[in-house]
Amino acid sequence: MNILHIDCSARAHSHSRQLSAGILAHLLHLHPQARVVRRDLGHQPIAHAGDGYATALASPAAMAAAPHPDAVRLSDKLIGELEAADLVVIGTPMHNFTVPSVLKAWIDQIVRIGRSFAATSEGKQGLLADRPVFVAVASGGVYSGERPANRTS
Ligand SMILES: Cc1cc2nc3c(=O)[nH]c(=O)nc-3n(C[C@H](O)[C@H](O)[C@H](O)COP(=O)(O)O)c2cc1C
Repeated sequence: MNILHIDCSARAHSHSRQLSAGILAHLLHLHPQARVVRRDLGHQPIAHAGDGYATALASPAAMAAAPHPDAVRLSDKLIGELEAADLVVIGTPMHNFTVPSVLKAWIDQIVRIGRSFAATSEGKQGLLADRPVFVAVASGGVYSGERPANRTS
């Protein structure tokens, strides 16, 4: 049993960190032998998609001729961590009604055409196995009900 534990807040006393740590503690109680792989994006951000990676993603031919081996190395590593995980726990703040840029940088590295999803005539199809993902979100506002985008307090 492998658990991938990701945190995205830069704050030391972050609410989302506390929440994700609580979820992790509960999962470890259920699976005491589990191995935890840590990705602290808030304190150790990864690089945003750069020239080499973005160019490689443009087409299969561009991927085959990636400008240098480092272009997709980080993406390979992060996708590998995800594939090896039986459970994923993500603690994240809401930043400007979406995820913080450090989490978006991770998403841009793991959502990769031809590797983690395929574009087909029926639309996009995921290529990774389904697994439970627990997302612990902290926000300044309260979002709930049928239209959670409408702040209620
Ligand atoms: C740059 C920035 C943008 C934010 N945008 C929102 C927002 O759109 N909606 C909201 O409810 N709270 C917003 N907040 C507040 C945070 O979501 C809130 O403080 C949350 O507790 C932060 O998570 P943390 O405690 O894990 O650091 C924002 C905070 C920051 C620093």
